[in-house]
Amino acid sequence: MVCTIEYINNWLKANLTQERYEHSLGTAECAEYLAKKYGINPQKAYFAGLIHDCAKCLPNNEMQNIIENFVTLECGESENPKTHHAPAGVYIAKTQFGVEDEEILSAIRWHTIGKIDMTMLEKIVFLADKIEERTRPKECTELKHLLNEENGLDKAILVCYKNTIKSLVDRELTICTQTIDIYNSLLKK
Ligand SMILES: [Fe+2]
Ligand SMILES: [Fe+2]
Repeated sequence: MVCTIEYINNWLKANLTQERYEHSLGTAECAEYLAKKYGINPQKAYFAGLIHDCAKCLPNNEMQNIIENFVTLECGESENPKTHHAPAGVYIAKTQFGVEDEEILSAIRWHTIGKIDMTMLEKIVFLADKIEERTRPKECTELKHLLNEENGLDKAILVCYKNTIKSLVDRELTICTQTIDIYNSLLKK
């Protein structure tokens, strides 16, 4: 059985930093807004947004254990520990909160690196994570207006990929092939 929102809120408060908890609420609210705008279930979007970063502040040894024993990493993820909280988040969602809904689990799984042809819920959680107003007001102002254009959701996600790729290039970090593939597929839309 899925835990109540109250239990999850308390769990997040206890296991995330204050800023990360605030970001989780922001992502939930933004995902709910986007879900209403694009005609999908707003409660589900709120819930997925709320728990998307549940594994973000796990102690190193706990994260290590989950990554080594319970999840499969994709291309580029093994070299980038910052992305590990996405697959680990799926594990926490299942084991701590009793989430079985594959759409929600998949939205958590792909909120960091994304993937080609994301579902509406995956796109919404991916974008809400980047543009929620509580802790990302600058990105929100920069990107929210795109949503009023045709294919606005894909356009806003494309800008996220452009920013990610630019920042990786600036810092001379490797770009995984999946990121390039997603960027190319969004450009073609
Ligand atoms: Fe995250
Ligand atoms: Fe996040």
